[in-house]
Amino acid sequence: MRTPAPAPVTDVGTVELRRARADDAEALATVHARAIAALDATHYTAAERAAWSARMSPDKYRVLVESRRITVAEAVTAGGRCIVGYAQLLPDEGVIEGVYVDPQWARRGTGTALVGALETEARALGLPGLVLDAALHSIPFYRSLGYRQECLSHHELAPGVRIACAVMDKRLGATADGDARRAERPC
Ligand SMILES: CC(C)(COP(=O)(O)OP(=O)(O)OC[C@H]1O[C@@H](n2cnc3c(N)ncnc32)[C@H](O)[C@@H]1OP(=O)(O)O)[C@@H](O)C(=O)NCCC(=O)NCCS
Repeated sequence: MRTPAPAPVTDVGTVELRRARADDAEALATVHARAIAALDATHYTAAERAAWSARMSPDKYRVLVESRRITVAEAVTAGGRCIVGYAQLLPDEGVIEGVYVDPQWARRGTGTALVGALETEARALGLPGLVLDAALHSIPFYRSLGYRQECLSHHELAPGVRIACAVMDKRLGATADGDARRAERPC
């Protein structure tokens, strides 16, 4: 069953982006769980959403922050600082993975800022483009950022639990290498 959508925050303060640290692990797991709990059953069943949510834990994030480039969005309000979203870049693969925004902070441009930061990082690394597996409800979000849907695919969440997703990509610069990367993606 879907958790009722939390009320949007009223004190929006400012949102700062920075690289994730090991002591962010609890907050990253919380944002992940809250973002999935706010989804309805339009695209994924309750069992699929539960499996998706159960994939991550603070311990997993403690490991991931050391091995991946995770950017967090941290809100600075009168009440203090809190992590309201994050996104991961896998530079070797040219892949964006796991963009999550706390539902209380939705539609305030946080997701856009996070993906923009990853694109800036990718350009600085000389990557020709980025590719991602978009959860079906997030297709309009990525489209708004210039990502193009290539095909539908599946993502394995747990043994026996595969959810449909959309392979989307965006060119950051036109090179033959970028075309090769796209061709390698299984659809
Ligand atoms: C998808 C997600 C990251 C978007 O984050 P966000 O901070 O709310 O996104 P933004 O405010 O930057 O939205 C930018 C634009 O994307 C589009 N968009 C975002 N959410 C949308 C939605 N639910 N429905 C339709 N369009 C949407 C809109 O065009 C929006 O611009 P607007 O608000 O001016 O209309 C967030 O909703 C989320 O965490 N979802 C659950 C987890 C998830 O599915 N992540 C993607 C996994 S691949």
